[in-house]
Amino acid sequence: MDAKEQQRALAMIAKQVAGCRACALYQGTTNPVPGEGNASAEIMFIGEGPGFYEDRQGRPFVGASGKFLDELLASVGLDRRQVFITNVVKHRPPNNRDPQPDEIAACKPYLDAQVEAIAPKVIVTLGRHSMQRYFPGEAIGRVHGQPRRKDGVIVVPMYHPAAALHQQTLRRVIEADFARLPEFLAKTLNGAAPARTEVPEQLRRAANPAQAAVDAAAGETKHQDAQQMRLL
Ligand code: URA
Repeated sequence: MDAKEQQRALAMIAKQVAGCRACALYQGTTNPVPGEGNASAEIMFIGEGPGFYEDRQGRPFVGASGKFLDELLASVGLDRRQVFITNVVKHRPPNNRDPQPDEIAACKPYLDAQVEAIAPKVIVTLGRHSMQRYFPGEAIGRVHGQPRRKDGVIVVPMYHPAAALHQQTLRRVIEADFARLPEFLAKTLNGAAPARTEVPEQLRRAANPAQAAVDAAAGETKHQDAQQMRLL
């Protein structure tokens, strides 16, 4: 697909999401939140589900955790226009409760279609619900920040920004995991070779070898933190 076709495919998916009645989540919502960003993004982020502000605006990650996500993106020289951000469910669960397995299953065809249209090089899952899509049965405290190849894509599970927002130790962990994103992307792109996929200079600069020390420090506490965090 070229960029125009990718945009058209995503617009079509968004339209289908808006009319979706495959589960009951649409009831009581203000707006669908299909996701947004670059239709040809090399990195795609998958969160859990829209919250209050996302439902109001019809846009993903616009509340407090979204602001933190923006900061994390900026820390590796990225912004929303370069990536694609979406969720496992596209309508807000009532009172921000966890999305249920049947709701995630009902919404899966939309997420599958988005991944297929965008064909990202790297997928970052944010929190345990999107991690389950690729690594069922895994514990985020054990696998976060570790890239794995799944169906030809590099998938990097990460903590949910909302969980890390107010927890200093987890915050350092997610920052350290983010800092390695440019390195993961560079590896996939070097393998793929085509000229269009050359690693942007800003990403190259962001690959920070000093991060290994931070990772090691965070590793001591991450398991304990993961057990405490409901969102993960
Ligand atoms: N949390 C999510 O998982 N997704 C959003 O869009 C906002 C908050």
